[in-house]
Amino acid sequence: MSDDLLAWRKEFPILANTVYLISHSLGAMPARTRDNLALYADAWATRGIRAWEEGWWEMPVRTGDLIGKIIGAAPGEIVMQPNVSVCQSLVLSCFDWAAKRSKIVTDDLNFPSNLYIYRELQRTGARVVTVPSPDNITVPLDRMLAAIDEETQLVSVSHVIFRSSYLQDVAAITRRAHEMGAKVVVDIYHSAGVLPVDVHALGVDFATGGSVKWLCGGPGAGYLYIRRDLWTELRPRLTGWVAHRNPFAFDNGDMDYAEDSFRFLNGTPAIPALYAAHAGYEIIAEVGVENIRAKSIRQTTRLIELAQEAGFTVRSPIDAARRGGTVVIDDPNGHEITQELSRRDFLVDYRPGAGIRIAPHFYSTDEEMELVIREIRKLSPPLAARCDR
Ligand SMILES: Cc1ncc(COP(=O)(O)O)c(C=O)c1O
Repeated sequence: MSDDLLAWRKEFPILANTVYLISHSLGAMPARTRDNLALYADAWATRGIRAWEEGWWEMPVRTGDLIGKIIGAAPGEIVMQPNVSVCQSLVLSCFDWAAKRSKIVTDDLNFPSNLYIYRELQRTGARVVTVPSPDNITVPLDRMLAAIDEETQLVSVSHVIFRSSYLQDVAAITRRAHEMGAKVVVDIYHSAGVLPVDVHALGVDFATGGSVKWLCGGPGAGYLYIRRDLWTELRPRLTGWVAHRNPFAFDNGDMDYAEDSFRFLNGTPAIPALYAAHAGYEIIAEVGVENIRAKSIRQTTRLIELAQEAGFTVRSPIDAARRGGTVVIDDPNGHEITQELSRRDFLVDYRPGAGIRIAPHFYSTDEEMELVIREIRKLSPPLAARCDR
């Protein structure tokens, strides 16, 4: 079938010689990223210190605006940070965990980095309630809703779960949290750029994500959305001089937060990473997330059919409406298979407790779905033999 999105393939050099099905882990680099990094070097080399007032200072918020176009945030509502772990820590640092409202409600399929941060926060009085997954794929909505109570300060969930690609009902979770007087931080790392996300429509208080995966922006460009009407009441303890109302006064007195979203910054931003990330955001916005989602559903559905025909166990939701952009298939030799696939220029990954994760993106061909399953079948002899009988 004709597929207009394939015209983008020439923008991504690595697609010329690999079957690139790993955009849930590291999105392919756009060719324009090299030009953008050259712009960074030129600005530093030729403008020197003046580069700060000629764009660098505003860059953590102006770059966030490009992400805002993809996730429904208004200009100024997103600040760039080095990574999600810092964003999550910054959110937690806005609250008093020794107070009565000291629960963090989350689930055991949240990304481990987030869970580590919450558990360490228990030293300051926080209580972590972790809703278990019965199958390592889903988190039952009713159990999540029931765990949220009047002592809950923060509910933390992934929009799409990294291990299984399960899509959570964040709007319902947020409604319940707000009824109970709690706030919600949603990790949209595995939804932004591959399926429609609208942080305003979801109603969440905070959203965190990064650019390494579906946004094709590379490392060092994490982002944090904060609901605008909360800004003035939040005083993050994870802070620094860039968040000060008057940073160039270098005042040694108490912290006086900026009134706008600069108050959620801290130290000197990672400018080269922001230059590198722009191309990916622009391309995703131009391709259109609705188009990306339609193609993703078609290709992940086909992957599931092929995997099931070959006798593999699929460890992602079969229902496309509850599935993100990745398909996980189980194989006892998943780790070794993934390594051998890489030697053969098929790029996918393996996660313990999940399986082989395969992710087409808007630049993938339909044929690559057939090729990857055929290759995995070849490398999984006992299973292939079973199926051929
Ligand atoms: C859902 C999710 N959240 C957070 C992270 C970690 O983000 P960072 O390395 O930016 O802290 C990952 C990384 O894979 C992830 O998949």
